[in-house]
Amino acid sequence: MPAAASPWEASSSWVAASAGSRRYTLDRMDVETAIRTRRTHKAFGPEPLPREQIDELLELARWAPNHNLTAPWRFRVVGPRALERLKAAAGPEGAAKLDRAPTLVIVSCAPAGDPVQGEEDLHATAVAAYIVLLAAHARGLAGYWRTPGLLREPAGRAAVALPDGERFVGLLHLGALRQEKAAPERPPVEQTTTYLD
Ligand SMILES: Cc1cc2nc3c(=O)[nH]c(=O)nc-3n(C[C@H](O)[C@H](O)[C@H](O)COP(=O)(O)O)c2cc1C
Repeated sequence: MPAAASPWEASSSWVAASAGSRRYTLDRMDVETAIRTRRTHKAFGPEPLPREQIDELLELARWAPNHNLTAPWRFRVVGPRALERLKAAAGPEGAAKLDRAPTLVIVSCAPAGDPVQGEEDLHATAVAAYIVLLAAHARGLAGYWRTPGLLREPAGRAAVALPDGERFVGLLHLGALRQEKAAPERPPVEQTTTYLD
């Protein structure tokens, strides 16, 4: 697919052009365009996402596939006091990185006791995190799935009240898009696919 200069403009005209079509769209962007053009961004505008928009993204994540409908994902939206605690636990260098994005959402997994279900819960939580990023991108926002070691350590976990039973999955950075980003190369599909006879 040729890269569009601005996928949002391209896709909104696509949606307009296909009004009445039975194809599903993801807000202003069709699913394939959203999947191909979502990028990891590390620069954001300063404004936090409005709460209604955060709620909208997290509500979409509810639709992630999850075996036995365990809904294992947990989201913690970082407020100003939690951010201060996290920065204090991070130290100066780590703290500066936490200021990159105006909205931070901690994604964790509360797995069921059974190891197999627990593994499936972890997969489902990753899908839920991806839904948040994809839906943010479809709304013209920038996102970044970050996994700072801090949130695997007792001090970082305590700063955001992550209980022992929950596995840290990602610290999602969200905010207004500042700049386009080139897509990193992907290995060809043949490298990762085997057709079994
Ligand atoms: C589970 C997971 C953890 C990640 N953790 C980090 C991270 O800690 N730091 C980082 O720079 N990128 C992190 N990323 C983002 C990847 O580096 C990024 O997706 C990859 O470079 C491809 O770029 P793209 O997202 O723009 O396609 C993570 C992605 C995933 C799925």
